[in-house]
Amino acid sequence: MTTLKAVRGTRDLLPPETALWNRIEATARAVFARYNFGEIRTPIFEDTGLFARGVGEETDIVSKEMYTWEDRARAQSEKTQSLTLRPENTAGVVRAYIEHQLGETGQLQKLYYIGPQFRRERPQKGRYRQFSQIGAEVIGPPSAGSESPLRDAEILEMLATLLDELGITGWKLDLNSVGSSVDRARYNEVLRTALDSVVSGMCVDCQRRAVTNPLRVLDCKAPADQPIIDTLPVIADSLDEASRTHFAQVLDALDAAGVPYSRNHRLVRGLDYYTRTTFEFTHGGLGAQNALLGGGRYDGLSEAIGGPKAPGIGFAMGEDRLILTLQATLNQGAVPPQLADAFIAPLGESLNPAALALARELRGAGLGIELGDGSFRLKKSFEAADKTASRIVILGEDELQSGILTVKTFATGIQTKVPRTELAVFLKP
Ligand code: HAM
Repeated sequence: MTTLKAVRGTRDLLPPETALWNRIEATARAVFARYNFGEIRTPIFEDTGLFARGVGEETDIVSKEMYTWEDRARAQSEKTQSLTLRPENTAGVVRAYIEHQLGETGQLQKLYYIGPQFRRERPQKGRYRQFSQIGAEVIGPPSAGSESPLRDAEILEMLATLLDELGITGWKLDLNSVGSSVDRARYNEVLRTALDSVVSGMCVDCQRRAVTNPLRVLDCKAPADQPIIDTLPVIADSLDEASRTHFAQVLDALDAAGVPYSRNHRLVRGLDYYTRTTFEFTHGGLGAQNALLGGGRYDGLSEAIGGPKAPGIGFAMGEDRLILTLQATLNQGAVPPQLADAFIAPLGESLNPAALALARELRGAGLGIELGDGSFRLKKSFEAADKTASRIVILGEDELQSGILTVKTFATGIQTKVPRTELAVFLKP
C-alpha cells in the first residue's frame, strides 16, 4: 500500500519548531493588546460569493487559487451552496462586521486574527497551500474616524513595533497610494491607453491584464517586461487632491514617529478591494517570496459586499515567513530543546502507580515532569532522562518507604538525597 503523506503545499509543524510559532503568536497578542485590539475568529470557509465580490473575480486569488466546492444540501430546508476555504481573512472580518452590525456601536472596531488561509499556489519556499496569517483590521463608520490618515500611520507604526519585538531586523516598508476607486478607475484608463502601444511586446499574462485589469500589469515579475513597465505612467499622477493630501498626512505621521519607509509606485497589491494607502514589508532573507506582510486601506469593501459605508485598513503577515526569517537571521529562531525539570524513574512496574502519584504531586507544584516506566532497566531510564529532562528522580521501594528520594542533576553529575516534602522546591529550576 502507498503511504499517505501530507498534501502538497501543506506541512506538519512539530516541536520544537512549534515553540517558535507560539512565541510569535504570544508576542503578537501582547502587542495587539497594547494597541487595544480584540481578537476575532471567523469560520475557515465562507460562501464563495464573499471572495468573488470582496477580493475580486479578476484577481489571481479568486480566478485561480481558491479551494471551492459545491456543498450539497442535506435537507429540504437547505440549498446547495458554493463554499470556499478562505484565501484571506479581510473579507470574512468585514462580513462579520456587517452581520453583527458592529458599525452601530459608532466606535472603531479594532480586530486581530491568527489562523490558516488556503490558496492553490505553486508551492515553494515560503509559499504554501495552507499557510497561517496574523492580521488585524481597523474598521468603522466614517464618524468614528475610520478614514483618518492617522489610522494608517498607527497601523504601520504598530507593525514596525511588532517586527522589532519579534526580533526581525532588516525589514523594509514599501508604501504607495492607489487612490480612491474613482482615481483607480482613472488610472486604469491612463494605463490602458499607455499599454496599447507596448503590450504586444509583453508576456501573455500582461496582454490579458491590459484588457481585463491593467493595474495588475504592475505586479508582473517577467524580467523582459520590467523595462517596459518602468516607462508606464505612475498612479501618483492620477490621484485627486483628497487622496494626495491623505497620503501626505500618512507620510507626515510616519516621519514624526520615526518609522522608515520607501515609496513604491508599483505597489498596487493583488486584491481588488484596496483604496488609498497600500503597503508591504519585505525581508531580503526570504528569497523570491520576500513579502513578510501586506495590507492597506479598503474604504469600499463593506459596500461591495452589501454593507454600510465602513472604511477600514489592515494587514496580514505570513506567519510561515516570519518563522523562516527568524530561523535564517543569526539563528535567532533556534529554539533550545525544551527539557523537563525532572524525569521520574520507577524501579519496577509495581512502582508505576506510585510514580504517577509523585508526578501528579510535582506537576501540581508547577514542575515539568517526564514520567518513566518501571519496565525500563535503570540504564535505559537514565538514557531517556538525559535526553528529556535536567534531572532524574529514582523511585524504588526503599525510596517510597523512607520518603527520601535520590535525585541526579545531569549538568553537574551530582547525586543528592532529598526528602519528598522538599522535592518540589529542590527541583524548581
Ligand atoms: P496578501 O498580500 O495576499 O494580503 O497576504 C498577506 C501575507 O500573507 C503575504 O505578505 C505573505 O506573507 C502571506 N502569504 C500569502 N500567500 C501565502 C502563501 N501561499 N504561503 C505563505 N504565505 C503567504 C492579504 O491576505 C490581505 N487580506 C491583507 C490585508 C488585511 N489587507 C487589508 N487587511
